[in-house]
Amino acid sequence: MKILGIESSCDETSASVVEDGTRLYSNVVQSQIDIHAEYGGVIPEIAARSHIEAITPVVDKALEDAKCAWADIDAIAVTNAPGLIGSLLVGTLAARTLAVVHKKPLYGIHHVEAHVYANFVTEQQDGATATPLTLPSRQPQFPMLALIVSGGHTQLVLFRGHGDYELLGQTQDDAVGEAFDKVAKILGYPYPGGPAVERAAKDGDAYAYDFPKSRMQNPYDYSFSGLKTAVLRAVQREVGKDFRFPSHELSGLLSDKQKHDFAASFTRVAIETLVDKAEKAFIDYAPASVVIAGGVAASPPLRAELSRRLPIDIQYAPMSLCTDNAAMIATLGYYYAQGHAADDPYSLEVIPSISMSKTAWA
Ligand code: KG4
Ligand code: ZN
Repeated sequence: MKILGIESSCDETSASVVEDGTRLYSNVVQSQIDIHAEYGGVIPEIAARSHIEAITPVVDKALEDAKCAWADIDAIAVTNAPGLIGSLLVGTLAARTLAVVHKKPLYGIHHVEAHVYANFVTEQQDGATATPLTLPSRQPQFPMLALIVSGGHTQLVLFRGHGDYELLGQTQDDAVGEAFDKVAKILGYPYPGGPAVERAAKDGDAYAYDFPKSRMQNPYDYSFSGLKTAVLRAVQREVGKDFRFPSHELSGLLSDKQKHDFAASFTRVAIETLVDKAEKAFIDYAPASVVIAGGVAASPPLRAELSRRLPIDIQYAPMSLCTDNAAMIATLGYYYAQGHAADDPYSLEVIPSISMSKTAWA
């Protein structure tokens, strides 16, 4: 079963063809990073307008790269939740229209669940992407522990089967990706902050500064806003300023060495916090597989720390399938379609805000 996936929930317009939830035929991602970098973050109205311009060429290219005609496509899967409303609407309306015109079943997919399913892509057709991807050699097994770390979510989820999952814990305030982005701003690095902080951290001393790890009532819950504030206070102290000094001017007073040390120390504590709780869940639930998902899963230091601490062979999805992409939507679409009736292409709605819940597939 070949599924065309469509993703437009934030600032990437993407389309992809995946067969049977495992074999990648194409994955076209048009990023708006350059457009939003000027503003230091995603501007929703601009994102939506850019999706409108990109969506048709991106879908056409995904079919072309996959060497597929519409007759070869069995179904369409589209991100309809959660995300920016204007962005979600563009992909969802495009998918609805295509489903009606080409008479294909349509499935609305939850973006955060789909991030986890990037780990199920284990095969690729020749020419699926410009350079072949390094894919996991086998699919994850259940029970599967998933650490989801994106710009909007930080959660530990235990999957007992496809669509059968339990949320063990989640962030009570900022997502870890958000913390990376905010610390990047404090240190004067451009949007998107995660990759910039990660690059800066390579040249820094990870023990130059110590930041506290927050303690939570539920041992699997996270909190990152305290860490971000601790970095801000430490930077203020380092340059001899207090809260009255404009925070966007702080980075100008830091040397490159200080910035690298802050980036490295923050990255160490953020990653240790993520892995501490994943390690506890691993011990408590003895999963057969562990996967990481979401944009921050592209972080090499997170991968290294997880592999070092957890006594299990973790297979990582390639970086391009960790950040937003439609291959993960087409992949989840396949498993979702096994137990579900198709959505109505005339009425499928977008849901900007909906968390992963136990009943999402019920
Ligand atoms: O999953 P994603 O692409 O979009 C959301 O659905 O949120 O995640 C984006 C987040 C951003 O916060 C970005 O700064 C972070 O992932 N990120 C990274 C890295 N690459 C992306 N954070 C740390 N290290 C990276 N290499
Ligand atoms: Zn995402």
